[in-house]
Amino acid sequence: MSVYEQYDYIVIGAGVIGPCVATALARQGKRVLIAEREWTKPNRIVGELMQPAGLKALRQLGMIKAISNIEAVHVDGYYLSYHGEAIDIPYPDKSFLKRIDTTPVPGAIQRGDEDKLVSDSTLDIQEWDASPTTKGVAFHHGEFLMNLRAICLAEKNVTKLEGNVTGLVKDEFGKVLGIKVANKGEYKAKITINCDGIFSKFRKELGDDYVTKVGSYFIGLDLVDANLPSPNHGHVILDPIKFQNVKKL
Ligand SMILES: Cc1cc2nc3c(=O)[nH]c(=O)nc-3n(C[C@H](O)[C@H](O)[C@H](O)COP(=O)(O)OP(=O)(O)OC[C@H]3O[C@@H](n4cnc5c(N)ncnc54)[C@H](O)[C@@H]3O)c2cc1C
Ligand SMILES: *[C@@H]1O[C@H](CO)[C@@H](O)[C@H](O)[C@H]1NC(C)=O
Ligand SMILES: *[C@@H]1O[C@H](CO)[C@@H](O)[C@H](O)[C@H]1NC(C)=O
Repeated sequence: MSVYEQYDYIVIGAGVIGPCVATALARQGKRVLIAEREWTKPNRIVGELMQPAGLKALRQLGMIKAISNIEAVHVDGYYLSYHGEAIDIPYPDKSFLKRIDTTPVPGAIQRGDEDKLVSDSTLDIQEWDASPTTKGVAFHHGEFLMNLRAICLAEKNVTKLEGNVTGLVKDEFGKVLGIKVANKGEYKAKITINCDGIFSKFRKELGDDYVTKVGSYFIGLDLVDANLPSPNHGHVILDPIKFQNVKKL
């Protein structure tokens, strides 16, 4: 199948960025195709804490409801422990957010409530509004992602495509015309936006300065109902841990 410029935009990837970009464009009256190879909920630890500035941006995108009904908990700051000594680092006063220069996204607020947070079983909005300090939020990445995707796919001008994008369609001058999708064919649009993550296949293709370097590894643990030293805080614990019976990898 080859449909010439059926879409204004193609967005590759429905991770964190893709649905945000697609939603904003759709609310500006653009027809958007969003292509993702895996629409089911990912079970990965790759984005659990959203800082206050991120929440501000999410409001300005008109997608703040993506943190609703996912048992998200508010975050008041950080707890930092270093060799047995600990301090709390609270988030600043709300006025601080004005200094963060994100701007409202044109067209993002259509009905009027897309930037309003509502209370659910874990978030108390009256408490948020009464608090003099800003708040962040913590959640399971997969749950947040599925909410972002649902908000995006509810837009009439967004078309969902499940498939592995294997290449870009280009004209003889190298201009990107669209995408090639495994077992599906070619899709074309005026503009194609890559949101295919840190190990992007296509950024590498478009510029050699986008080479990802793996500098370290990350181990994620899901601690169920753990007693935290400082609830509602991100914990940074820089204490020597004695590993016993741990074999060298
Ligand atoms: C260990 C770790 C912890 C992190 N913790 C935090 C945190 O606490 N807070 C925070 O804000 N950020 C955190 N981050 C960063 C955050 O995860 C990223 O900034 C964010 O996910 C980037 O979004 P993205 O849309 O660019 O990419 P991704 O979220 O990776 O999404 C890319 C999407 O593109 C799809 N895709 C890729 N290639 C193709 C293809 N060829 N065809 C079709 N689909 C394709 C993938 O399936 C995926 O769904 C963390 C990252 C890591 C690695
Ligand atoms: C969808 O896009 C078309 C074409 O740009 C536009 O006329 C229409 O208003 C958009 N619809 C919505 C619901 O945004
Ligand atoms: C997607 O296609 C690439 C080849 O372009 C392949 O290496 C990869 O395994 C495919 N991924 C999935 C999930 O099918």
